[in-house]
Amino acid sequence: MDKIIINGGTPLRGSVEISGMKNAAMPIIYACVMVEDKCVIENVPNVRDVSLSLDILRSMGARIKTLGRNTVEIDCTDIRQGAAPSELARKIRGSYYLLGAEFSRFGKAHVAYPGGCDFGGRPIDQHIKGFECLGGTVASDSSGNIEIISEGGPVGSSIFFDFVTVGATINVMLAAVLAEGTTVIENAAREPHIVDLANFLNTCGAKISGAGTDVIKIKGVNRLHGCTYAIIPDMIEAGTYMVAAAATGGCVKLTNVIPKHLESVSAKLEEVGAVVDEFDDAVIVTGREQVRKANIKTHPYPGFPTDMQPQMAVLLCLAGGVSYVSEGVYEKRFRYVEELTKMGAVIKVDGRTAVIEGGKPLHGAEVMATDLRGGVSMVIAGLIAEGTTEITEIRLIERGYDDIVGKLRSLGADIKKISVPDRDETVIKKAN
Ligand code: EPU
Repeated sequence: MDKIIINGGTPLRGSVEISGMKNAAMPIIYACVMVEDKCVIENVPNVRDVSLSLDILRSMGARIKTLGRNTVEIDCTDIRQGAAPSELARKIRGSYYLLGAEFSRFGKAHVAYPGGCDFGGRPIDQHIKGFECLGGTVASDSSGNIEIISEGGPVGSSIFFDFVTVGATINVMLAAVLAEGTTVIENAAREPHIVDLANFLNTCGAKISGAGTDVIKIKGVNRLHGCTYAIIPDMIEAGTYMVAAAATGGCVKLTNVIPKHLESVSAKLEEVGAVVDEFDDAVIVTGREQVRKANIKTHPYPGFPTDMQPQMAVLLCLAGGVSYVSEGVYEKRFRYVEELTKMGAVIKVDGRTAVIEGGKPLHGAEVMATDLRGGVSMVIAGLIAEGTTEITEIRLIERGYDDIVGKLRSLGADIKKISVPDRDETVIKKAN
């Protein structure tokens, strides 16, 4: 079992390079299934969800070459439809993009129900509605697999989503790319990674317009060709380092960012008293001693991102007065609060709102990562707490943060990762 150990109290200072965006890398990697050619993808983050996704494609027959730390060549010419190993597909959310990609290329799909972080129910009814609009018949079997079948492959159609969903927007876009005719998606998600996926697919010969607005139009094409494409910087990784800089009262320059994607986080940081200076592809965040209270409600892009909610809650623990943090995207995204209270935070959760009584000092404690962003919020809490914090279940943090320990150490944090033998392992070793 691996743990992160942090001795808190050092303000972060220096410069950190932000990696490629996990939530753009995932759909782009699965979109390669639709390309009967080689794609070279650059700025790929070195995170567990990405390596698992590459393992899934490899076991389906894709030829994958690592060309550098952040560059992969993916050739899905001979990929086998429906061959994703269930035990891998169930470990991550992004594996459900295989549904759209397989349906597009083969006219049918077969994938295990996806996993991912536990935020209460995470239904996929809008994905199913989209596939059905495109002429698919969707069924699930008793082993938890989802299957799409169709007569002659997907056929373009109009879809109006009942609410904004990133996953379903991406899945229907994928399915529509090789469909016969034109598809129009209304009430589409507008996240930067939707635009990134559309740019990648268009570079491969797709005809997608309107990505980044709430109406996306996709004219079906017969085939896609290979390309070289660089993934956009990760706005959530960037936001996390911005909050860490502000929370520790440090000063950090983040490079390889798109400041426009960070606007909602920058605005909230300025509201609580931090200073954010924007440059073409960099931002500098300077923390102030006094943190002001603020209220947050998470929304789809361009609203304040749900994936930044736990990190911001930690910062608000430092603020004088009471702050309200409301979750507008997921049913339950406050599992981390119980861990944070072990460090001295005073937070009450009432349904989808957390009420934070700020100004109480945080102290080191043994805590666990409850999920990816909840886990990284423990890291931020450890950086500001007095004493030592030990974080377990860090594989959840490593799903989405590229070399977090190395990056924070380069900013001066007293942080290390250690491997502790599991109790069972110790017992076996002693018995021998
Ligand atoms: N929803 C439904 N039915 C659907 C689809 C979604 O009820 O058919 C609900 C969800 O349960 C949720 C809301 O709609 O309450 C929004 O879900 P959405 O589809 O937008 O999210 P997702 O595709 O499941 C992706 C990211 C998440 C990120 C959200 C929102 C990936 C692999 N996951 O999830 O990333 O929080 O979009 O931006 O891209 C993370 O990186 O920590 C993370 C959880």
